[in-house]
Amino acid sequence: MPPYLAGRDDEKREFERLLTQTTILENLVLTGLRGVGKTVLLDTFKPLAIRQGWLWVGTDLSESVNVGESALVVRLLADLSVITSSMVIKQSETAGFVSSLTDVTLDYKTLVKIYTDTPGLAADKLKAVLEVVSKAVTNETKRGVIFAYDEAQILSDSPENDEFPLSLLLDVFQSIQRKGMPFMLVLTGLPTLFSKLVEARTFAERMFHVVTLSKLSRDDSRDAIKKPIADANCPVGFSEDSVETVCDHSGGYPYFIQFICKEVYDSFIQQYASGEVKAVPLDSITRKLDADFFAGRWLRATDRQRELLYVIATLGKEDEEFTVQEIVMKSKEVLAKGFGASHANQLLSALGDQGLVYKNRWGRYSFAVPLFDRFILRQDGPNAPELPF
Ligand SMILES: Nc1ncnc2c1ncn2[C@@H]1O[C@H](COP(=O)(O)OP(=O)(O)OP(=O)(O)O)[C@@H](O)[C@H]1O
Ligand SMILES: [Mg+2]
Repeated sequence: MPPYLAGRDDEKREFERLLTQTTILENLVLTGLRGVGKTVLLDTFKPLAIRQGWLWVGTDLSESVNVGESALVVRLLADLSVITSSMVIKQSETAGFVSSLTDVTLDYKTLVKIYTDTPGLAADKLKAVLEVVSKAVTNETKRGVIFAYDEAQILSDSPENDEFPLSLLLDVFQSIQRKGMPFMLVLTGLPTLFSKLVEARTFAERMFHVVTLSKLSRDDSRDAIKKPIADANCPVGFSEDSVETVCDHSGGYPYFIQFICKEVYDSFIQQYASGEVKAVPLDSITRKLDADFFAGRWLRATDRQRELLYVIATLGKEDEEFTVQEIVMKSKEVLAKGFGASHANQLLSALGDQGLVYKNRWGRYSFAVPLFDRFILRQDGPNAPELPF
């Protein structure tokens, strides 16, 4: 969590609007490029929701490679049990799923028992569990439960393995929401997330409200740089020129702002300890950023893929979308041997699988990594100014 979360007021308001729903008609997809601030914003949504009387469950899915249907069910029940294990419901409200004369505690074991004792498919079983939990939640006078999953672009149907976890999730939530049960999905992930959802189930298009995080505005970037220093009463601050340079160099992307500012302070402390404070060379910070953030992604690309990435960078589109057509035309200009459309398409598809570019629903492409074009263009050696204190 950054010491000061800059901007994002509109996004918080959007989320708070969704919290006022009594019948859930809209769920949330929070999406954006790497390092734009999805995870920390999701973390700030949690207390907002709890304050409005919601319960919150969920996890980061990034560790869960190849989530199948049964893994997803275990995930959902385990997450749910964290909040339900202190809830007790009357035997009559279990709809006969748990045979007991006394009241029932909704711990993990009970949830699993309701699941396994319900006849039918995984979706029917999950719905039965959620129906019982829904009664318990209403008894506790809570508004509902939010299921928040970070890195949700990892979820995928896999027809070749006969595994459809994404469709299962969407089917179950659509069905229980139709019955008026207050369970809301908040899914966070890379820009491929929403198209993946719609590909799995076309109704996902109407089920989700999409909030796309972009880079911070100039004012918000300045706040992200200056407020933590002011709040900490730090004796060493940035000059106005340096603030501007950090804004320019980071492109307003929170991860880069944080990276550069940390490096500046680390370097300052080192210089101070050695008794001579000069200035922080932006060159060396850029080189470190290149090595830490970009180089790994670049090195995984093949020679021909790198040529294609280079052509895209020379389009000068910074953050904007580009088309195959544009790449083909530009490649004839900047490469000895240009690309044909089908070859470019093929390479883009491979780069998409590697998480370097993504295709939107209208067939236009973007870089999935912020400021990747600047990195590519400085491969001949960065030539950047210094940051004076
Ligand atoms: N609004 C903000 N103001 C200041 N700093 C921010 C803001 N948003 C994010 N950051 C900082 O930027 C960094 C990246 O944020 P975060 O991890 O949330 O990005 P992300 O979109 O989840 O990235 P990834 O796609 O890699 O998971 C974090 O270190 C965070 O502290
Ligand atoms: Mg994240």
